[in-house]
Amino acid sequence: MYSIETRCIHGEGHTLSDANCAVSFPIYQTACFSHLTPGHNPSGFDYSRESNPTRKFLEETVSSLEGAYDTVAFASGMAAISAFFDCFRPGDHILCGEDLYGGVVRLIDQIESKNDYRIEYVDTTDPAKVAAAIRPDTKAVYLETPSNPMMRVSDIRAIAEIAHRNGAVLAVDNTFMTPYFQNPIAEGADFVIHSGTKYLSGHNDTVCGFLCSKSPEAAARIRLLSKTTGATLGPFECWLCLRGMKTLALRMERHKSNAETVRDWLRGREEVDQIYYAGSGMISFSVKSAEKALSILRNVKLITFSESLGGTESLLTYPSLQTHPDVPAEQKERLGITDRLLRMSVGIEDPRDILGDLEQAFTAE
Ligand SMILES: Cc1ncc(COP(=O)(O)O)c(C=O)c1O
Repeated sequence: MYSIETRCIHGEGHTLSDANCAVSFPIYQTACFSHLTPGHNPSGFDYSRESNPTRKFLEETVSSLEGAYDTVAFASGMAAISAFFDCFRPGDHILCGEDLYGGVVRLIDQIESKNDYRIEYVDTTDPAKVAAAIRPDTKAVYLETPSNPMMRVSDIRAIAEIAHRNGAVLAVDNTFMTPYFQNPIAEGADFVIHSGTKYLSGHNDTVCGFLCSKSPEAAARIRLLSKTTGATLGPFECWLCLRGMKTLALRMERHKSNAETVRDWLRGREEVDQIYYAGSGMISFSVKSAEKALSILRNVKLITFSESLGGTESLLTYPSLQTHPDVPAEQKERLGITDRLLRMSVGIEDPRDILGDLEQAFTAE
């Protein structure tokens, strides 16, 4: 098998199967495919909600990078996460990491609540706490590592073992690390989730998501869900993500080295209170007052005050208002998601320009 750098560019290889030998995989911008006679469609494709060649190539490439049996590309990371939560039944107990992207907390608290799941938040950074919280009726453990925005790290291998011993599955959101830095399935996870909007697409121009499954049985369930509920990814977005992923390896190296440069710079600033960094290109840090946090957000020029992450452009986010407004106040306080916390997605610009912009934003009033 080729290395991950090569598979980001070629996937498992498509040129032999493309009739016109296109080097860049074509965008099959079609809703439907022709049949010769009833039951005979030579391409194997019927209707693009269910499957489409561009999406198939993207899904196969992500499966290859994550070591998954199958991957479904969704219209957003949240659509992929909703599909995962749709796999359960009323009364099922699900353990969730306590520091999650705020949209997932909103999904659990405001949408999935109608399904009468027994959802419990647990500190997954300590496997002993997961072992203590798991029950005979626990069907899944769901976590982010590192988590958004506090960069808390969980031991995938240890938690997979606890989950499996109790007949539950483990789902890991791998958005922050990407398969370039972390392979949850190789460490025992059963599902991997991505907001493909972030590092996989990588250019702040596409919204997409992935749900990768390790087992054929789980894959069949997710395929049934995706073709029936229909939040699958359009051909053009599939192509944008394929194009973005070609440079994933290069970008991740640069995101990481730029983030380490920013972390080292933050360590020398008296305005900074705490720094949270766990690898990759993401850093959260708190400053000594909410006024300072707001002033930095007002004064950045090259760095954009914006809500996403994982793209070529450096972005600065205010989690308490932007990504986590629907997380209950006491949960935010306990986790450290205060009005003094900033989250930075360090882009791939020249690090001197990033530091120059931070320097002027920190000193401006
Ligand atoms: C870790 C994580 N998972 C999932 C999502 C949701 O993905 P999307 O915005 O593509 O729906 C986000 C969004 O910020 C995220 O940060």
